[in-house]
Amino acid sequence: MTFFADTKKLPPDSLLQLITDFRNDPSPDKIDLGVGVYQDEHGKTPIFEAVELAQRRLQADEESKTYLGPLGWPGFADEVRKLVLGNTLEEKLADRFAVLPKPGSSGALKSTGTLVHRLNAAAKIWLPDPTWANHIPIFQSCDLETKPYAYYDNDATSLDREKMYADLEKADAGDVIVVHGACHNPTGEDLSAEDWQYLTNLALEKGIVPFIDIAYQGLGQGFDEDMENVRGLLDVVPEAIICYSFSKNMGLYRERVGAALVLTENTEIAGRVQSNLNEIARRSYSMPPSYGGALAWYVLSDPDLNASWRKELEQMRKRVLSLRGQVTDALSAEFGDNRFQYIKSQNGMFSRLPLAPEQIAQLKSESSIYMAGDGRVNMCGFTPAKIERFTELLVKVAK
Ligand SMILES: Cc1ncc(COP(=O)(O)O)c(C=O)c1O
Repeated sequence: MTFFADTKKLPPDSLLQLITDFRNDPSPDKIDLGVGVYQDEHGKTPIFEAVELAQRRLQADEESKTYLGPLGWPGFADEVRKLVLGNTLEEKLADRFAVLPKPGSSGALKSTGTLVHRLNAAAKIWLPDPTWANHIPIFQSCDLETKPYAYYDNDATSLDREKMYADLEKADAGDVIVVHGACHNPTGEDLSAEDWQYLTNLALEKGIVPFIDIAYQGLGQGFDEDMENVRGLLDVVPEAIICYSFSKNMGLYRERVGAALVLTENTEIAGRVQSNLNEIARRSYSMPPSYGGALAWYVLSDPDLNASWRKELEQMRKRVLSLRGQVTDALSAEFGDNRFQYIKSQNGMFSRLPLAPEQIAQLKSESSIYMAGDGRVNMCGFTPAKIERFTELLVKVAK
């Protein structure tokens, strides 16, 4: 018997499989609503102009490829913290933060999950139901117990507020509650300001640690608007964990650019937490990749590049908003009722269609319409012509 002979074949990730199936589908009419990235009207995921300029500057400026150490590209960590906090909170809270660059928000989730387990192995990590599909396996790989809390009512196509509060009441001191910063994936349904206040009170009164995953800043209500509730919470709670991603809002998907940020009670504790984050990284991948962090640093720290980035991001946000409106109007006209109005009011690229798995499978096999198995659709997969074809087919399957 050889060493690898008994290796079990694992099933492919269902979303990655969907991408492959779409690619292999020869239909000229196929529609990809399953993709998890921003796409323009030509189905392209563009490189931001500011990022292209940053690449050129980096190439001209960089003189060595030697190791940089745990903080990666100099200045990146500070810029991310400033971005998260905004000017007012930066002055007030900067020295209570530990920050480490990470390979994407995924890398940040893994490292902070490891930190949580290290500090409280009994901590339960509460996740919205549903949540981004990779949250659960990442936290479980940190040996943490994951617990779902009610979040979205699929039939009512809205937040399941009463059940959510009832579930969150069950969290104990030292537990961690994960919320999505803005543009909840997969539903597009975000917490209200009152819900954030509820979470803040829970943290203050019960000693629960808020954990905010920010993967879509600027794609919801607006660049600073998307951070309002997050900042409101950070302003008053003693402790919080934040994972930040530049995949979507800077188009740096493959560079793997993100950060882990931990708010602590004071500077001295922040220093100790920082040393733990550094050590967790050291024993895993040693040091962060610097290329993407360098690009993000150029964009964030140069006023012209920063303005150009935000302008382009705002155009993307507006395009997604417009698609939301077009899809809602087309579906409302085709179905003759208001059941899809919720799509218009949700945030970010995703919404969920209340379809059964058989209906989703039928749309794929008979009409080459691809969406995630839970009914998640990406608005960016639509164009006016595709909306027309899609609504006609959907009414046949769902009426
Ligand atoms: C909520 C959420 N968190 C994290 C991620 C992962 O982002 P990254 O590419 O930075 O690892 C995603 C990606 O889709 C996401 O939706």
